[in-house]
Amino acid sequence: MKVLVATEKAFAPIAVGQIRTVTEAACYELELLENYNNISDLLAAVSDADALIVRSDLVTEEVLDAAKKLKIVVRAGAGYDNLDLNACNAHNVVAMNTPGQNSNAVAELAFTLMLYNARGGFTGISGSELRGKSIGIHGFGNVGKHIAEIAAGFGMDKYTFDPFVTEKDIKKYGVKVCNTKEELYSRCQYVSLHIPANDKTSKSIEYDLLKKMPQDAILVNTARKEVIDEVSLLKIFEERRDFRYLADVAPDCADILKEKYKGRFLFTEKKMGAQTEEANMNACLAAARQIVDFFKTGNEKYRVNK
Ligand code: 3PG
Repeated sequence: MKVLVATEKAFAPIAVGQIRTVTEAACYELELLENYNNISDLLAAVSDADALIVRSDLVTEEVLDAAKKLKIVVRAGAGYDNLDLNACNAHNVVAMNTPGQNSNAVAELAFTLMLYNARGGFTGISGSELRGKSIGIHGFGNVGKHIAEIAAGFGMDKYTFDPFVTEKDIKKYGVKVCNTKEELYSRCQYVSLHIPANDKTSKSIEYDLLKKMPQDAILVNTARKEVIDEVSLLKIFEERRDFRYLADVAPDCADILKEKYKGRFLFTEKKMGAQTEEANMNACLAAARQIVDFFKTGNEKYRVNK
């Protein structure tokens, strides 16, 4: 039984050690393909793998065609928009994620971006504080809940919109419920995005919504760049000198922003949200355990395809 870990952005070595411990205990062979640049390396490595662990690496029809023995792919992380689920179904491959395992790291990065921006990028100019500011948590899943807890420590006024979470569950976190996303964006100076990227959410953060944000609006995106309508983003940047955008990875329109709106945005060079030793360890351990459990007992608890 071979487990392949294919990560274009490698996990911390200590986290890979967790996978090794679990797979060795199960007498599985472990192969690492880390920091690869070429899809052909992935196609070759996956050809005799029974199980695959990935991060944001694309698992496409082509990858699945090459993976003749593959039975399970685990996305060691939350968002599984990188997995072609139809192709997984067609190839009889079970697809899973590891929800919640890296969510604190993502929430901490959102606050890192907010604080760095609020303090003027540490340039010596007089900045602002988070205390007393309103924050809209768009999506109240695992990351959204961590955002609420950290925001409470900063003394922020917290709101959320998430039609999939009950009012009772939201109120436990001291967060006020908005009934529409329009209400959320109208109320909050900061909006932090925690929605998945899928057909329903793609380009869903658009002009009319952003226009509603109050003075000195700051949109924080540690979710996915695909949920933003970038035509709208550029229009808002042009119309509102007070608007800022802070994101984990640059949008496609980064060059235009750099040319025209210097100082009003902040991007990470590489997607950094989940890039902590702790998050890597949690996600790796969960992924390895889920694979062993799947082969030994048939457990499909975290399956995301039907
Ligand atoms: C996730 O969906 O779990 C996060 O976006 C982290 O992605 P990464 O593992 O590619 O850093």
